[in-house]
Amino acid sequence: MRVGLDFGTTNSSAAVYDGERLTLLPLDPVNGSPSIMRSTLFMTREGAAYIGRAAINRFTEGNVGREIEYEWRYIGDAEVTFADFGTVQQALYVKVDANAPGRLFQSLKTGLRDKSFSRTNVFGTSYTLEELIAIVLRLILEQIETTMGQPVTSMVVGRPVHYSLTPALDRLAFERMQAACQLAGLPEVTFLAEPTAAALSYARTARSAQNVLVFDFGGGTLDVTIMHLDGHGGRQLLATDGVPVGGDLLDQRIVMGRLLHHFGDGATLGARRLPFPTHVLDHLSEWQTIIELTQPNYLAIIEEAIAIGDRPKELKALRSLVRQNYGLPLYEAVEDAKVRLSEAPESVLSMHHGEIAFAERIPRWDFERLIGPDVRAVEKCIDRTLASASLRPAEIDVVLRTGGSSRVPRFVKMLTEKFGPAKLQEMDVFTGVASGLAVAAWEQG
Ligand SMILES: Nc1ncnc2c1ncn2[C@@H]1O[C@H](COP(=O)(O)OP(=O)(O)OP(=O)(O)O)[C@@H](O)[C@H]1O
Ligand SMILES: [Mg+2]
Repeated sequence: MRVGLDFGTTNSSAAVYDGERLTLLPLDPVNGSPSIMRSTLFMTREGAAYIGRAAINRFTEGNVGREIEYEWRYIGDAEVTFADFGTVQQALYVKVDANAPGRLFQSLKTGLRDKSFSRTNVFGTSYTLEELIAIVLRLILEQIETTMGQPVTSMVVGRPVHYSLTPALDRLAFERMQAACQLAGLPEVTFLAEPTAAALSYARTARSAQNVLVFDFGGGTLDVTIMHLDGHGGRQLLATDGVPVGGDLLDQRIVMGRLLHHFGDGATLGARRLPFPTHVLDHLSEWQTIIELTQPNYLAIIEEAIAIGDRPKELKALRSLVRQNYGLPLYEAVEDAKVRLSEAPESVLSMHHGEIAFAERIPRWDFERLIGPDVRAVEKCIDRTLASASLRPAEIDVVLRTGGSSRVPRFVKMLTEKFGPAKLQEMDVFTGVASGLAVAAWEQG
């Protein structure tokens, strides 16, 4: 069985094609839509691994709302040299959360382009990023083989056009992804650019000569492909391009642009009215980095600020966010509010957990102000792709929107202004890429 696999930043899906019918595979049986699996990994203290909805549920049951408890843990020895004493062996201890039942990973694909994310310690075992992704891929493979009752013989796996705009990091990311596939034991893997896959899926049903532009805007990257179809099954890839802008970044814009004042931004401390240090709140830009604030030195800063600051309610909300692990619910509330803004002119982002209690009204125009730089980066990328295909917007016949973020109205508006409303089509936003990868896998046979 030849399978197409879209390992996405936020969601993963897989499909098979037999020349006529496309079948989406149920990667996550406990999810509301089983063919769309959240790209999450939960590792327990005992070393068990869960992916998809089960990973989020286990993390939420065991970690969210629980007070962090510290204990000192021995992690090894180090040689320390003192000026007038010589070199001695010193035992190293770190403070760790003693009762955490497990760790949750999200957006692992984004880590591929991050040089600093090489290893992470999960309850005493050190994993490379490739190993973590390999665990996810392995479980996906097992799920496919179990539900389909036959072995997978080859796979076409999607990749963004550019993981990173820095060539060295782009190479690093792709090499890590290849290594992850190998570690996972995926059989006979080839890679295909995600938007090109989506174009293949569309090409199956196209009956006339046309130039197609795929706008694939997901959780981590925007990817563009321009393809010419001759109407008789012939295809010509004209250009591809991409930028590392995606839905995760849009969520981050909301948190950093609209929510920090609920967590102590602007507070002043003591009689000298010193500002609350911004480097603490910088950690709120991703839910994973909020966890870093559980380090005792940061907690000490927060406690001190509660004692002498002029915004104790907001600073207590920050303490609660950190100590009771509400980072994930915060980012879930932000994502929900963003998704609702695709339908409504405003949405209310509210959170009532522990000592966190706020409701922030976000009008769509303000969200659009916050994402202004991202809209410009995306538009530039489209213009570059058109230039590299030597086509004007008027020479594009169909614009296919796919990926969850392609539903954000500001981007729909930009595409409408550039190409005209009649050319825009939405294709299956969460499964279009996997379908095309399945078509490519079938064509290889
Ligand atoms: N209706 C919507 N309006 C705005 N954003 C949405 C909507 N639905 C989903 N999203 C966003 O789309 C993103 C997920 O899209 P998708 O599943 O296509 O990404 P992905 O394939 O996992 O990522 P990538 O292709 O970048 O690796 C998330 O950031 C999610 O918040
Ligand atoms: Mg995608």
